[in-house]
Amino acid sequence: MNRKKPWWLAGLLALAVTVIALPTGCTQDKKAAVTPAPTAGDGADAASTATPDKPADAVEVPLGLPPLPVPKDNPMTADKIALGKQLYFDGRLSKDGTISCATCHDPKKGWTDQSPTSTGIKGQVGGRNAPTVINAAYATAQFWDGRAPSLEAQAVGPIANPIEMGHTLKDVVVELNKIPAYKDQFQKVFGTDVTADGIGKAIAAFERTVLSGDSAYDKFKAGDKNALNDAQKHGMELFNDAGCSTCHAPPMFSNYRYFNAGVGMDAEKPDEGLKDVTKKDKDLGKFRVPSLRDAADTGPYFHNGSAKTLEEAVALMGAGGKDNPNLSLMMKAVRSAKLKDTDLKDIVEFIKALSGNYPKTEPPKLP
Ligand code: HEC
Ligand code: HEC
Repeated sequence: MNRKKPWWLAGLLALAVTVIALPTGCTQDKKAAVTPAPTAGDGADAASTATPDKPADAVEVPLGLPPLPVPKDNPMTADKIALGKQLYFDGRLSKDGTISCATCHDPKKGWTDQSPTSTGIKGQVGGRNAPTVINAAYATAQFWDGRAPSLEAQAVGPIANPIEMGHTLKDVVVELNKIPAYKDQFQKVFGTDVTADGIGKAIAAFERTVLSGDSAYDKFKAGDKNALNDAQKHGMELFNDAGCSTCHAPPMFSNYRYFNAGVGMDAEKPDEGLKDVTKKDKDLGKFRVPSLRDAADTGPYFHNGSAKTLEEAVALMGAGGKDNPNLSLMMKAVRSAKLKDTDLKDIVEFIKALSGNYPKTEPPKLP
């Protein structure tokens, strides 16, 4: 489908994160085992550098996904992941105890809230659609406008956001330190009491386990020619030929760059997107290309949740976006493919073939 050298490699190197992979080397293998990178000095005591906790034996990366990027200063360990999972589901991270990360990124709802825009503390409604946490580990920056450089940086943001969890980090740290079991776990994992840094790291480590691959498409790419039906195969061809795959580039079906597709630009006060971050006019209305893996479960679509169904979202994309002075030339180029209604249907079927086996994690017991 795309024979260019892996686009994600350059991005990952640029971010100076460690790509750690020990593929078993056997193409028949459904899973590639990934273990944390050996640190300098390596060997048996690799675990002794960053944290007192031991590295997780392996985080299994499902078929079709690239090696898991894990930052050097936040290695994956079993205890850290378990701690992050508790924090992720714990409403006590919000001011009134009612909102957890899982409220808006619910494992049972494709790790989003399946609402156009999210409702936070005291029923306040935000302006943007909650992206899924599925495969967020691979994004080279977080949020629709990329304003958080890492999952670690992102994870502590919602706590202090006045319309999301409405708390302060300082107070959350004080309160969690009053819960002996949390204090013990932080000591075990980080060798410190509860800290904001530790909260971010633990939640990020947990989020890096929320992976989804092994889709019909991945099976097809691995050699099972019957994994896709005819409509899906046709949809895949159109997806490539019309230029969808330039932005929604495999294997993650996003190149994680920013483009203006014209979504919401006709609003009275349009969301400025990337311009909010860079303050540059050329970035007006640009949003990060969303991954299309598991998109079948993560609607409504677009940064403002304006497309209710996958069909609606694909129709707008297939029409080359909505006209506005800053519309991406690559969006306009899609128009030359002159996709018919039946073509759009097949593209939708193809996107459904990108749905994998994401974890339906149950809330853990909280301390
Ligand atoms: C009130 C709803 C709400 C709560 C609570 C919430 N989020 Fe979010 N989350 C959102 C919205 C909305 C966005 C998109 C915001 C944007 O792009 O500006 C988002 C973005 C994200 C992203 C970026 C994903 C991507 O692809 O860019 C991650 C990761 C994330 N949230 C994790 C968390 C974690 C971890 C918590 C708990 C500490 C949390 N969220 C709490 C609504 C919420
Ligand atoms: C120039 C880059 C580019 C091209 C080409 C492109 N897209 Fe997109 N796509 C985007 C961006 C950017 C968004 C998010 C727009 C927003 O929310 O403002 C998006 C959003 C989507 C979404 C919604 C996903 C979600 O989770 O919200 C779907 C579905 C989609 N595109 C499918 C397609 C299809 C099918 C094609 C080809 C017909 C295509 N795209 C071509 C950049 C592109």
